[in-house]
Amino acid sequence: MFNRVLKWQLIFESKSELIDYFGTRSTVLFKNTFGEIMLAREGDEFYAFENKCPHQNKSLEGCSIDEGAIICPWHKYAFSCETGRGHGLYLEKYPIKFEENGVFIGKEVWSLFG
Ligand code: FES
Repeated sequence: MFNRVLKWQLIFESKSELIDYFGTRSTVLFKNTFGEIMLAREGDEFYAFENKCPHQNKSLEGCSIDEGAIICPWHKYAFSCETGRGHGLYLEKYPIKFEENGVFIGKEVWSLFG
């Protein structure tokens, strides 16, 4: 029986490496085996989203953050950083966890062995 399970993947060796990757930017594109991930930062909070706006499936590259919302660069739709919700649509959000051995993002995948 197939089940949905959360698969975690290491993206940075440490939180400081993640912070360095952002530099002075608040959103950065990151690629891994999950695909293109839009990483966003507002203060000490970090978020990860699929790099695809649910409005017209366009890339979020060039998006911005404003008061807890990620703003798509194309038509300026705003999506909650906490839930991914906006304009009756949902931005695919990935959880981030910080562990002693690095920074991980999670993605739900189908698994035969649960
Ligand atoms: S494609 Fe993102 S708001 Fe239209």
